Amino acid sequence: MSEKTLVHNQWSSRMAFMLAAIGSAVGLGNIWKFPYITGEYGGGAFVLVYLVCILMIGMPVMMAEILLGRRGRRSPINTMRELAATAGASRLWGVVGWGGVVTGFLILSFYSVVAGWALAYVIEGVAGAFKGLDGESAGALFGELTASPGRLVFWHSVFMLMTTVVVANGVRSGLERLVTWLMPLLFVLLAVLVGYAMAAGDFSHGVHFLFDIDFSRVFTVCDEAGQCRFTAEPSLVAMGHAFFTLSLGMGAIMVYGSYMPHDASIAGSTVMIAVADTLVALMAGLAIFPLVFANGLEPAAGPGLVFVSLPIAFGAMPGGQLFGTLFFVLLVFAAWSSSISLVEPAVAWLTENRDLPRARAAWLVGGLAWLLGIGSALSFNLWSGEKYQLFGKTLFDIKDFLATNIMLPLGGLAIALFTGWAVGRRLPEGELAMRSPVLFGAWRFTVRYISPAGIVLIFLNAIGLV
Ligand code: PHE
Repeated sequence: MSEKTLVHNQWSSRMAFMLAAIGSAVGLGNIWKFPYITGEYGGGAFVLVYLVCILMIGMPVMMAEILLGRRGRRSPINTMRELAATAGASRLWGVVGWGGVVTGFLILSFYSVVAGWALAYVIEGVAGAFKGLDGESAGALFGELTASPGRLVFWHSVFMLMTTVVVANGVRSGLERLVTWLMPLLFVLLAVLVGYAMAAGDFSHGVHFLFDIDFSRVFTVCDEAGQCRFTAEPSLVAMGHAFFTLSLGMGAIMVYGSYMPHDASIAGSTVMIAVADTLVALMAGLAIFPLVFANGLEPAAGPGLVFVSLPIAFGAMPGGQLFGTLFFVLLVFAAWSSSISLVEPAVAWLTENRDLPRARAAWLVGGLAWLLGIGSALSFNLWSGEKYQLFGKTLFDIKDFLATNIMLPLGGLAIALFTGWAVGRRLPEGELAMRSPVLFGAWRFTVRYISPAGIVLIFLNAIGLV
């Protein structure tokens, strides 16, 4: 091979990794979930805890996940098993891979329903349904959608089908390449929306809400009646979201790590992915909250927040029909490139160990996630009653809580401990190949002590022990 092609190939595989990883990270987590949980948990202090979690837990664990993936080059289950065997550690570490597969199913089964809302809103946008909406009618538009089991299941099915077809045909890289063009467009559109929020929304209220730090809010949650209670839930949710938004703790980034050429910098890529992901989330917040306050909406309105606030803006701005439709199209693409990474660990394992052809593995996984997802869709209508709730949470909430706030951090904890303690120093040192020994030392210290201690403390705090 000539030197030129070599360089080109490596460039393109570094690009392939970055596209896949950013495609996986940026999704509904940034635009749908970040604003709504920030609204629910009171704003600035929550945002701060989330940012600290990204820096001290998310980024070090992401480096760990990528380096394990690049070294193992197999499905997460087998990567964990083999690296454990090579290091003379227990094969039980494979459980981390299994946990990831289960978590992927759980997340996909509610993710797909929300992506379905975005699909439904593409049609609403085309039909001009956003025109002249105010807070109340925007709420009614969303309420009508979620009240209909038929529509929710239909759009959930369409989205699962889209995901499965891409994974089955192995055209993931095609979708990712498309997303390279669409992602910057989403960014530009978010910037336009932030500009609109500055002009037409209550921008300063929005900024204060997002960035004023009131620490009492990290430890209290208030209901609609203004009744507040002490709870450590916000820090647990902020940490869970740091994992969710960076696609960490379930093997998605580990699978993608195997795309990476050996001389590409894992630390540098991690910084780029985390910065891009965080920027998109903060921009979504800056676009949404000024509109929320200017239109008399509740920041704590829950999962519908984005779907109620932004359509008001689209309905009032010039060219809003086009912008609104485009926005939801881009949101669907962002969700699509995330959802394929949710099934990848399971599909990779099925093709490796069960010798299933890729297509059959994808249909199997997609079918199961589709079935599980029906329960999430019905949580908003037929199964929304108290009879179907546990601790005041619907099936949708329970799946989200369990997967995001418990399973992902547990997976992240195991990955940090495995990389920090079980595989020795040589393997990460070689894979990371950081120029500065001080930086490597800082990373290793963080992944050995700080990230695990942070995760454990937040867990203990949440169950009331610390
Ligand atoms: N990071 C994605 C988002 O923010 C969701 C995701 C979580 C994808 C876990 C893969 C794994 O939308």
